[in-house]
Amino acid sequence: MFETLTPAKPDPILTIMAAFREDKRADKIDVSVGVYKDEAGGTPIVAAVREAELLLHAQQQTKTYLGPLGDVGFNDLMRGLVFGQQADKARIRTAQTPGGCGALRLLADLVAAARPDATVHIPDPTWVNHEPLLASSGLKLKSYSYFDRAGGGVRFDAMVRDLAVAKPGDVVLLHGCCHNPTGADLDMAQWKTIGTLMLDRGLFPLVDLAYQGLGFGLEEDAGPVRHLASIMPEMAVAASCSKNFAVYRDRVGAAFILASSAAAADVAGAKLATIGRGMWSMPPDHGAAAVKIVLEDEGLRANWKAELDGMRERIQMLRANLASELTRLTNSDFSFVTRQTGMFSCLPLTDGQAQRLRDERGVYLLPDGRINVAGLNAQNTAPFAKAFAETR
Ligand code: LMR
Repeated sequence: MFETLTPAKPDPILTIMAAFREDKRADKIDVSVGVYKDEAGGTPIVAAVREAELLLHAQQQTKTYLGPLGDVGFNDLMRGLVFGQQADKARIRTAQTPGGCGALRLLADLVAAARPDATVHIPDPTWVNHEPLLASSGLKLKSYSYFDRAGGGVRFDAMVRDLAVAKPGDVVLLHGCCHNPTGADLDMAQWKTIGTLMLDRGLFPLVDLAYQGLGFGLEEDAGPVRHLASIMPEMAVAASCSKNFAVYRDRVGAAFILASSAAAADVAGAKLATIGRGMWSMPPDHGAAAVKIVLEDEGLRANWKAELDGMRERIQMLRANLASELTRLTNSDFSFVTRQTGMFSCLPLTDGQAQRLRDERGVYLLPDGRINVAGLNAQNTAPFAKAFAETR
């Protein structure tokens, strides 16, 4: 049986995460995998989530099955968080999923079932798992221009040019906020232009919203999704709670579809349930149950939001420190780092230079130069910048 298999291509993020753990150097620096870290280098459990887990432990009476779409209460609260109160609820259906990845895969399978010949247009570059994940559903992929490596922003004109020739009916994968790996986002005026283009051309937006709250704020980061939902007849959103609730390993997410009518939403929603049943039968409950308690309790929700605001502000402070340190050491302009949002920034480095940073300086970043800014702190920002300046 297994002799017919060929070795799988390793995932660079998981490979580097494992290599960092093995590294015995005391001064090693991890800016690889996208998890938020505090000043002490830890990834703490959010206080409101911990409290919700205690409540859950005290109050939960049963762990019997809920069904393939998960907990309806969690789904409704997540719909509110993502789409806001003004959303056309009658046209939206939600499935609770194992993380944002589960949501993406569920939606990709739904697209593949509805339109098997659709091409998914993905930004260049995009999160390393997007390609294998979407291709697993049998969809064809094509890159559209996105990142301006020299200036650290978006190549907006090139992006518009590429999407303007996409085939009607095709899917456009968009990062709702905090683009991974670049941190370069569209501004609201650009989102409106892309929205109108997709509407005119009959393109289907698939928005990956994995960092809501870590860019400009919970409401602000949902702005692009909400705008698209107000103009598009159909779209899909994959939301993750991994980062904003810090429930990474608990696997909490939601897949949303917006259909052209309530009747069409019923059909697509039922299909989501069927596909989920075939993949994981029912989504894991624990993390989503805790998130639900946080979202429905006014006090816990306010505490969670305050802690999330603190994470975002700390990342912005780290961005400012890093940009000034890099600019000082290299005599080049790194102010783009402060204009980017979320955890990531793509620094101008070759694959070979990234490798040398790992081997010679114990600095772990991705081969394309992506760093997790949230992995920096007062101790390691200067050594990181020095290692970068001396290696590039
Ligand atoms: C990342 O991009 O580092 C995170 O989303 C973690 C992952 O699963 O790749």
